[in-house]
Amino acid sequence: MIAAGVKRCMQKMTGPSQRALAVADLILSEALERIAPSPTVVVSQKARDLKAKGFDVIALAAGEPDFPTPKPIADAGVEAIRAGKTGYTAVDGIPELKAAVAAKFERDNGLSYDPQTEVVVTPGGKYVIYTALMATLRPGDEVIIPAPYWVSYPSMVELADGTPVIVETKEEDGFCLDAAALEAAITPKTRWLILNSPSNPTGAVLTQQHLRAIADVLQRHPHVWVLTDDIYEHVVFDTPFETLLGVEPGLKDRTLTMNGASKAYSMTGWRIGYGAGPKRLIDPMRTLISQSISCPSSISQWAVVAALEGDHSFLAERNAAFRARRDFMLDVFDKAPGITCAKPEGAFYLYPSVKGLIGGEINGRALKTDIDVAEALLEQEHVALVPGTAFGLAPYLRLSYAASMDELEEAAARITRFCEAVDRRG
Ligand SMILES: Cc1ncc(COP(=O)(O)O)c(C=O)c1O
Repeated sequence: MIAAGVKRCMQKMTGPSQRALAVADLILSEALERIAPSPTVVVSQKARDLKAKGFDVIALAAGEPDFPTPKPIADAGVEAIRAGKTGYTAVDGIPELKAAVAAKFERDNGLSYDPQTEVVVTPGGKYVIYTALMATLRPGDEVIIPAPYWVSYPSMVELADGTPVIVETKEEDGFCLDAAALEAAITPKTRWLILNSPSNPTGAVLTQQHLRAIADVLQRHPHVWVLTDDIYEHVVFDTPFETLLGVEPGLKDRTLTMNGASKAYSMTGWRIGYGAGPKRLIDPMRTLISQSISCPSSISQWAVVAALEGDHSFLAERNAAFRARRDFMLDVFDKAPGITCAKPEGAFYLYPSVKGLIGGEINGRALKTDIDVAEALLEQEHVALVPGTAFGLAPYLRLSYAASMDELEEAAARITRFCEAVDRRG
């Protein structure tokens, strides 16, 4: 009856409003048509599906620390709930957290920001990037993204109607952006460069010298803004963390420095990130936040105040665990036939090359791309890694070693068995 009524009604109408009434006819926005679900999420889902079918799957695909949120931080969240700090907050964060963020930038990075006008708190660092791009890009504007990149950068640029300009890095350069390649990619339409160090997916850390060379290029192109994604700042091994503005303060009036609580404090689900930059950028970002999500979670904000102001000694312990896992897996890749891996200096990822497996086959299945390798590894040995194609540089796999040593040992045995089983003559 209802369907017949709708049909009759539609017969009288014309144009898109009529189509909107048809239940099955969902018209997607042009922006959404430009993007696809994150490949890391797709692989994790595939792994979950296999697990649900009873397979013993080791998923090394997710980008989150496997440590719990430290208790004093979690307690601060509980305390906020008990104290009734559960209402909407200021759009860009509670003053206490903005002050703690400004103090963090001063303490860790030597950067001074006015917490009132130059700091913004958002639900996750991802939303800092998203709002910055949404607030500034017009159709055809270009954003330079070094590859391999975090999967969300190009999609967010495309959602904002911009054009990602991918500049590949090379394994032999330690996956660090080459200054000459950057300069060659800059056009009058370039609006942003996105820098991410330590990097997801390679773990590469930009040194002072790298950043100096990049800063020199940027100084020759004053129309280009820079977004530095410093979310893995606290997960570094032997190379010290440096942010661009620490090396070249002269870029401050066109740099957005982004960071957050997810990786440093194992707070991925609390969803708190922060950015600092010039008021002329932070103001429009605040407008976007107010009209999209109103504010970040009040409870999470109070927990992050405790995180930023509390004891940080657990970071060294956790980094020691990450380092041991990195070294263990590097040794595995060193020995497994067909795989080689550069030694990363930060984050919790390895980005091994599978060039030596391409052209081979396993159980009659041809391995033509890193996607084939990742799929075959998942199907044959139930180990989930993400193909490098998803990050814009193939043929590689990304392995997240934010997993227990027991899991890594089992994964190592399976990966080695897989590589040995590949007929590499093709
Ligand atoms: C490079 C990079 N930037 C940003 C983020 C987003 O972090 P958040 O949880 O703060 O949104 C991630 C998360 O995986 C990441 O890997």
